[in-house]
Amino acid sequence: MPKLKSVFICSSCEFESPKWMGKCPNCGAWNSFVEDVVESEPASKKQPEVRQRGSVGKKGRAVPVDQIEEDTFIRSKTGLGELDRVLGGGLVRGSVVLLTGEPGIGKSTLLLQISGILGKKRKVLYVSGEESAGQIKLRAKRLGVAGENLFVLTEANIDRILEECESVSPDVLIVDSVQTTYTPESASSPGSVTQVRESALSFIAKAKNDGTSVILVGHVNKEGSIAGPKILEHMVDAVLCFEGERQQAYRIIRANKNRYGSTDEIGVFEMTDRGLSEVPNPSETLLEGRPKNVSGNCALCTVEGTRPLIAEVQALAAPTSFPSPRRTVNGVDYNRICLITAVLEKRLGIRFGDKDLYLNVIGGLRIEEPAADLAIALAMISSVKDKPVPDTLAAIGEIGLSGECRSVSGLESRIKECERLGFDRIAVPHRNLTKKKPDPASGVRLIPVRSVFDLLDLLE
Ligand code: TYD
Ligand code: MG
Repeated sequence: MPKLKSVFICSSCEFESPKWMGKCPNCGAWNSFVEDVVESEPASKKQPEVRQRGSVGKKGRAVPVDQIEEDTFIRSKTGLGELDRVLGGGLVRGSVVLLTGEPGIGKSTLLLQISGILGKKRKVLYVSGEESAGQIKLRAKRLGVAGENLFVLTEANIDRILEECESVSPDVLIVDSVQTTYTPESASSPGSVTQVRESALSFIAKAKNDGTSVILVGHVNKEGSIAGPKILEHMVDAVLCFEGERQQAYRIIRANKNRYGSTDEIGVFEMTDRGLSEVPNPSETLLEGRPKNVSGNCALCTVEGTRPLIAEVQALAAPTSFPSPRRTVNGVDYNRICLITAVLEKRLGIRFGDKDLYLNVIGGLRIEEPAADLAIALAMISSVKDKPVPDTLAAIGEIGLSGECRSVSGLESRIKECERLGFDRIAVPHRNLTKKKPDPASGVRLIPVRSVFDLLDLLE
C-alpha cells in the first residue's frame, strides 16, 4: 500500500507546500491553500498516467494554418432559448460546459429540465452524486420530465460512471457535481484539488474522444469562486454562471467564458413551482412594480450582448451619523459610484461627504456598462434634492471626469427598447445626436445632454 502524506495545495496555481501558508509564494494568491492527501511516491513516477488521462487530442504535427480545415460545430438546441443564447446557439457536440452557482439556485433543476428536452431526440445520461434516484424521479415528475432516452445514474466513482457511459453511450453526459465525483486511485477526499482535477480531466477526455457533450456542475465556495483548482476553468470550453437572489424568483445565467460564442449574452429565468421558466422580455419584468413619483429612481437602458435591457436604479442619500459616510452599492461597480459622486460634488457642488449613500439596481441585475452613469447620477441628484425624475423618462450616457456626457454605442436599439416600454423622454448624449441622428417614434422626445449641468433641468 502506498504511503500517504498530507500536503497543502494552492487552489489557484496548484503549488504544493508541506505546511499551510497565508500567501502563495508562486502566484501570490491569499488564503488559497487547502489541505489534501497524496501518495508520497515521487511525482515523476505518477506523471505519465495523469498525462494520459488528460490527453485531449491525437499526437500532432505543426500544420500551416491555410491547410487546416475549419471545425464545424454541431449544435443541439437545449429547448430553452435563453440558455441556447448564452451557449452561443445550442450545446456543441464534444464540448465541456461547467455550470456553476450557489447552492439552491437551481442548477440541478435547470439540467434536469434540459435533459428532458434533449432526451426527446438524443440519449442523455444524468449522473448525480448528490441525490438518490428516487429524489431525482420525484423532481422529474414535478417538472414533467420523462422519456426512454433519459438515463439516470446515482454514482460518484468516476470509473463506474465511465463504465456506464460505455454501455449507455450517451450523446449528452451531465455530471452533478464535479466536486462529488472521485477516483479511488487517489487517496484525497472528493472535492479536493486533486480529485476535482482528475475528475474534470476524465470527463474532458471523454468529450474530446467520442464527441459526447458534457455538462459539469461546479460548486462555488463562500467567496463566490468555483471550488477546486483554478485550472478547472481553463480546461473546460465554457463556464456558465447561474446567479440571482435565492429569495427572489429571477435567475440570470451568463457565460464567463465561451469558446463557442460570445460572453456578453445573458439568459433570464424565473423559478416557478414547476421549474424554471424563460423570461423572454426581461425589461418588462425588471420594471414591474416601479414606484411612481418618488425621488431617487431612474430608468436606464443597458445592452447585454445584443439585447437591450431596461432596468431601474434606486439611490438614497441620507444624512450620516458616522465619521466617514457609508456607501452601500448593489448591482454596479463600487468604484464607478465613487467616480460619479466625485464628479457631482466637484462640478455641481452637491455635497455627498455628509451623507450616507445607498444604491441598488432592481431585479438582481449587475450592470457593468458606463452607459448607466447618467441614470445613476440622475437618481443620486434626485434623492439629494428630493425631486422625482419623471416616470416616463429614461437616461442613457457615460459621464467623464470633467462632467461631460460621453457618447454610447448601440443607441438606436436602446431607444427602440425604451419606446417599446412606453418611455416618451429619453436623455441621450449630445454627441450621439451630432453624429447620426436617430429617428425616434412620434411622441418620443430625445433630450440631448452635454454635461451633468443639464441633469438638473430633468427633475420635476
Ligand atoms: P436545485 O435545482 O436543487 O439547486 P442547486 O442544484 O443549484 O443546488 O434547487 C433549487 C431550488 O428551487 C430548491 O430550493 C427548490 C426550488 N424549486 C422550485 O421552486 N420549483 C421547482 O419546480 C423545483 C424543482 C425546485
Ligand atoms: Mg443540485
